[in-house]
Amino acid sequence: MKPRKGIILAGGSGTRLRPLTLAVSKQLLPVYDKPMIYYPLTTLMLAGIRDILIITTAEDQAAFQRLLGDGSQWGLNLSYAVQDQPDGVARAFVIGADFLRGHPACLILGDNILYGHGIQQAVQDLDGKKGATVFGYHVDEPEQYGVVQFDKGGKVVSIEEKPRKPKSSWAVIGLYFYDDTVLDRVGEVKPSKRGEYEITDLNNLYLRDGQLRVERLGRGFAWFDTGSCHSLLEASSFVRALQARQGQLVASPEEIAYHNRWITIDDLEKAGRRLAKTEYGKALLERARLNGSA
Ligand code: DAU
Repeated sequence: MKPRKGIILAGGSGTRLRPLTLAVSKQLLPVYDKPMIYYPLTTLMLAGIRDILIITTAEDQAAFQRLLGDGSQWGLNLSYAVQDQPDGVARAFVIGADFLRGHPACLILGDNILYGHGIQQAVQDLDGKKGATVFGYHVDEPEQYGVVQFDKGGKVVSIEEKPRKPKSSWAVIGLYFYDDTVLDRVGEVKPSKRGEYEITDLNNLYLRDGQLRVERLGRGFAWFDTGSCHSLLEASSFVRALQARQGQLVASPEEIAYHNRWITIDDLEKAGRRLAKTEYGKALLERARLNGSA
């Protein structure tokens, strides 16, 4: 089977975060010490995905390119595409059709932050599986999300997008794994009542064909969709607390690239030296030292 390719959807107008997002793309805002997009990017890297398409608005594309370049500094192959208007998450597969053709796909929303023990295993175990896999996360306010309905035996019955009366507390997070049939199926998705091509409708097409798995993420995982100022601050505090307590970096592309053997220890050290004035850079240098660099 061909290797899985990744898409980060980082467009949209960030209306719920204005005025923060009037001049800067939401997915470039800081989450503690890193730009937001580092978090979904490193989730894809943990899944072993190296070929990644980044979809942004036309006006923000240059800023993302300045930040991430072609990805070779992390052993990645990054390409870029534009979404003219925010007409739905499922559109990522129309925009990314040429990029994906024949490959299985993983889509991640540029504002989703996922952290937890075992995430790497969970996502790598999907290699070679047919159908689609999405992840459920238990939340307080499910009506803001895609919500999974289970029957008494725990089988998935439906997914509803932002239901007024949610049938469970399990939200679908913004990380989706699809087999190579996704491009055929996405053509069947029609605009919803709110005028968007919904990712939930694509997932329901897989469900109709008995091809959708929902993996429930347990208590050991943290998931934030940084859609509001409140959740943005929560995510920053979470990253700060974890890094300070454990002395470990969360969502460092350099560290994960090294761990995946996509860059050498010299590359890691050089990256640390370039950022040596920051805590982040010092942490990279420390990683390089612990792993035996000169
Ligand atoms: O975060 C998980 C949720 O994401 C899922 O539970 C929902 O099923 C799914 O529809 C989505 O809901 P949201 O209401 O959070 O989607 P939102 O419109 O906020 O978009 C999510 C991100 O994707 C946001 O950073 C902007 C970007 N986006 C969104 C749309 C609709 C685009 O880049 N282009 C788009 O057309």
